[in-house]
Amino acid sequence: MRQTVLAPALDAGNTPNLTDYEEACRTFSWEQAERQFSWSKTQRVNMAHECIDRHVEDGYGHKPALHYIEGAHQRVWTFAELKQETDRWATAFRNEGVKRGDIVFIFLPKNADCYIAMLATVKIGAVAGPLFEAFMEEAVRDRIDDCKGRFLITDPDLAARVPRKDLPSLEKVFVTAGPESCRDNEISWTDILADTFVSGSPTEWVDLDAPLNIHYTSGSTGKPKGIVHAHRAMIHQYQTGHWVLDIKDDDIYWCTAHPGWVTGTVYAIFAPWLNRATIVVNGGRFDADSWYAAIEKAGVTVWYSAPTAFRMLKAAGDELVGRYDLSTLRHVLSVGEPLNPEVIYWGVEQLGLRIHDTWWMTETGAQLIVNLPSEPIKPGSMGRPFPGIDIRILDDDGIEQAPGDIGHLAIRAPWPGLMREVWQNEEKYRSYFQFDGWYLSGDLAYQDADGYVFFQGRSDDMINSSGERIGPFEVESKLLEHGAVAEAGVVGKPDPLRGEIVKAFIVLKPGYQNTPELLQEIRLFVRSQLSAHAAPREIEVLAELPKTKISGKILRRQLKTWNADEEPVINASDSALSTAIPK
Ligand code: WTA
Repeated sequence: MRQTVLAPALDAGNTPNLTDYEEACRTFSWEQAERQFSWSKTQRVNMAHECIDRHVEDGYGHKPALHYIEGAHQRVWTFAELKQETDRWATAFRNEGVKRGDIVFIFLPKNADCYIAMLATVKIGAVAGPLFEAFMEEAVRDRIDDCKGRFLITDPDLAARVPRKDLPSLEKVFVTAGPESCRDNEISWTDILADTFVSGSPTEWVDLDAPLNIHYTSGSTGKPKGIVHAHRAMIHQYQTGHWVLDIKDDDIYWCTAHPGWVTGTVYAIFAPWLNRATIVVNGGRFDADSWYAAIEKAGVTVWYSAPTAFRMLKAAGDELVGRYDLSTLRHVLSVGEPLNPEVIYWGVEQLGLRIHDTWWMTETGAQLIVNLPSEPIKPGSMGRPFPGIDIRILDDDGIEQAPGDIGHLAIRAPWPGLMREVWQNEEKYRSYFQFDGWYLSGDLAYQDADGYVFFQGRSDDMINSSGERIGPFEVESKLLEHGAVAEAGVVGKPDPLRGEIVKAFIVLKPGYQNTPELLQEIRLFVRSQLSAHAAPREIEVLAELPKTKISGKILRRQLKTWNADEEPVINASDSALSTAIPK
């Protein structure tokens, strides 16, 4: 019989930064966390300063800050080297006309340039807009166009996916290469850097509420929305890095996410560097061998990844685990999608470690529900609220539910990591605060009598595939641009490996035949124009799609439960609780 509660493995050499959760819940205040920052004494705020320059000033310039691995290639940058590089890049951005408050889109693979670009942007008070490296033209266009972006930095390969003709706002595209690799209207960043001389510090001091970064994220309706965070988020990000990631000075920390996703910015860059960790960056996408090799090569001690990645490692076989020395690992965490108990047991058996699930969202800016290293884990639960965070499970009317009853997961606002705004969309921002003073996550959950929270699904149609948020509307719109598609409805279909896969139901236009070749062509159409992760892995052709009687809207929830042998039952109830929760 497997244990339903996993006790923490505490030994003398492994005391967590937080040892008493209950005590912290009673006594912790965010003001206490603020004292960790140099600005609490100097009043001079800047996230890049706290992540890099401050450590150099404190005498840690020689400490490795970034360990980059790509296959056989490795390179290490110290904090002092990163300070120098980010100063140079920041000065170069400023010389090129980037000012405080301007957005700089960063469309780069997971490499040192990407990390340096992020911090250099932030250093001059500009706003970093990282884009996921697998985005294709449409995804790039939607995001840059939404906020009329003027600046972009990219590399020669990814530059080919930037549709300049559709983006008149884009004044300057910097390409991290020599002039020979640039197209006509692109600017060689290599040339610019060669002509950049740093005199004095380029750091721009801002206030805590100044915008820091923008992440476009998908919901169930419309195009992706720009979620803007402020420098203030560092308070929350530092404290979760200290207590949840449990970072100590000799840790080698690896978060596997790309900065285009919020985890790749907050927990691959800000939180670990605010805590002065050495971070590891492993170039390329998932590959079991290269991932284990990265842990061995860099001597990773703290590792933050996602359930799909753990499931893929599990599927790659136990024999592979044995081929690598993973003995440096001491703390493992997960985020982004439900972490099945099976995966936690695999971690215990194969790595000798518990996997600590954490819950948060792009909008929340940092972790809100966590499993701390000092606390028991209940496999299947996302953990308990971080100290200083007040959560409730509410019914459709905003009434608190009893322990064990499913409802809407809500958080008392504000907290330091909470988004500053949704880019030029006040209405969308307000939609999160339907019940006065409470942020509504859109997730359904229940809380047990010990305070542990159990994820039960979404109350809307957002799809979560491999931990990546996908908006059905974006995919449906793209499908409708294909000449053969008359109607499209897109849903998440449960999948043992990826949590959910994107499944499209389509109605073909008259004259088109349902053939495997046509479906493959439609799939590749979405893949090549939007992005690989959003392309439907399954497409099913129907004679018609279920719709609401009154407004004619496609009923995605009906499609979700669609069984090819049965007629869909048309039921236009709009209560998320009554339709999404199994009774
Ligand atoms: C889901 C990622 C189950 C959830 C940091 C949330 C999770 C959405 C978990 C946010 C978890 C995140 N267990 N589901 N531990 N963590 N989610 O904005 O539905 O990309 O609302 O932020 O992912 O996704 P986002």
